[in-house]
Amino acid sequence: MEEAGNDNMIFKNTGGSLPVPNVQSFAASKDCTEIPEKYIRPELNDSILVLNGAVGQGDIPIIDLSRLHHPQHSEDEMLKLSLACEHWGFFQLINHGVPNEVIEKMKIAMGEFFQLPLEEKKAYGQPPDSVEGYGQAFVVSEDQKLDWADMYILSTNPVHGRNLKLWPTNPPTFKGALEQYSLELRKVSHVLLDSIGKSLKIDEFIGLFEDCLQSVRMNYYPPCPQASKVLGLSPHSDAGALTILLQVSEVQGLQIKKNGVWLRVKPLPGAFIVNIGDIIEIMSNGKYKSIEHRVMVNTEQERMSIATIHNPRFDAKVGPLPETLEKSEPYYKTISHHEYIRMLFSAKLEGKNLLDRMKLEA
Ligand code: OGA
Ligand code: NI
Repeated sequence: MEEAGNDNMIFKNTGGSLPVPNVQSFAASKDCTEIPEKYIRPELNDSILVLNGAVGQGDIPIIDLSRLHHPQHSEDEMLKLSLACEHWGFFQLINHGVPNEVIEKMKIAMGEFFQLPLEEKKAYGQPPDSVEGYGQAFVVSEDQKLDWADMYILSTNPVHGRNLKLWPTNPPTFKGALEQYSLELRKVSHVLLDSIGKSLKIDEFIGLFEDCLQSVRMNYYPPCPQASKVLGLSPHSDAGALTILLQVSEVQGLQIKKNGVWLRVKPLPGAFIVNIGDIIEIMSNGKYKSIEHRVMVNTEQERMSIATIHNPRFDAKVGPLPETLEKSEPYYKTISHHEYIRMLFSAKLEGKNLLDRMKLEA
C-alpha cells in the first residue's frame, strides 16, 4: 500500500526557494499592463541570433525508439543516438510507444489543475526547505530576476518516496493520470538509458538507474503583454541525468543554444523532446553534452509543458565512471547524490553553473 511519503529522498532537506508572487494570477489581473522590473531581461536586447534551425547543420536529431529495439536497426539507431548525445545533447523521440490515451489524460489533468483558483493550488504549495509542490524553484536572493512562470514539482519514483500530501485531489483524475504517465516514462527512460550506457560501453550504467529517481516538473507559462522582454525559464542546463519533455499545449517557446546561437525547437506532433542532463555529462566525463536551453513566452496564449526528470539511484555517486577514465583524466569531481542535489537547489538557475562547480581545475 502506498503511504504519504515521509521518506522523500530527493527533495528532503535540499533547501527551498524564496517565495515569489504567483505569475498566473498576476498575468490574469488588470494590473498586468506594466511588467515589474524584476521580470524584465535586458540581456534579451543582446545581439545573440535566434534562428529556426541550425544553419548548415540540419535541425535537432530525431531518434526512433522502436528502431532501438529492432534486431536489424538497433545498431544504426544507437549510432544516431550516440551522435545526438555528443553533438546536440537534445533530440526528438518518435515511436516511443507511450499510449496516446495516457498522454492525453495527463495533459487534461495538468490543464485542469492549473485552472483551479489560486487558493486551492496553494494548498499544494512548496513546504519550507523543499522545492517539491506548487510554486517556484531556484529563487535564492531578493534581487534576482524572476521567470515568467509557475511550476509544480512532484517526485514520482520510487513510489515510497512520493509525498502524496502534495498531490492534488482535484481534478480527481490527476493522481491516476500522473501514476500512469510517470510509469510509461520510466519505461521509455529505461530503454534510452540502456542504449546510452551501451553506446558509452559502460556495463554497469543501466544498473545505476534501477528504480531510478524520477520527478515531474509541470511548467505553466502565462501569456505576457511584453513577451519579448521576459523569459519563461532562464537559460539553464538540466541538472538530472535525462529529461523527457512533453509539450502540453501547441504554443512553441523552447530554444536551445548551439554554437553560440539560440535555436527554436519545433516539436514534431506526438514526439517527446529528450535532453541529456548534467549528470550524464559528468558520468561520461564530458563525452555527452548537457546543453543550455531557455523558454520564451507568448503575448496571447498560455504555454504548458511537463519535464520528467530521471536521476540515478539515490546511493549512486555523481562523478565520471571508471571506464571513461581509461583514456583521459577526470574533468569533474565525484560527490554523493545528496550533496549534488543540495548544491543544485542552493543556487539560481543560470547557464551551466552547476556543471562549472563540478569541474576540476585544469
Ligand atoms: C525544464 C525545461 C522547457 C519547456 O523544465 O527544465 O527546460 O519547454 N522546460 O518548458
Ligand atoms: Ni530544462
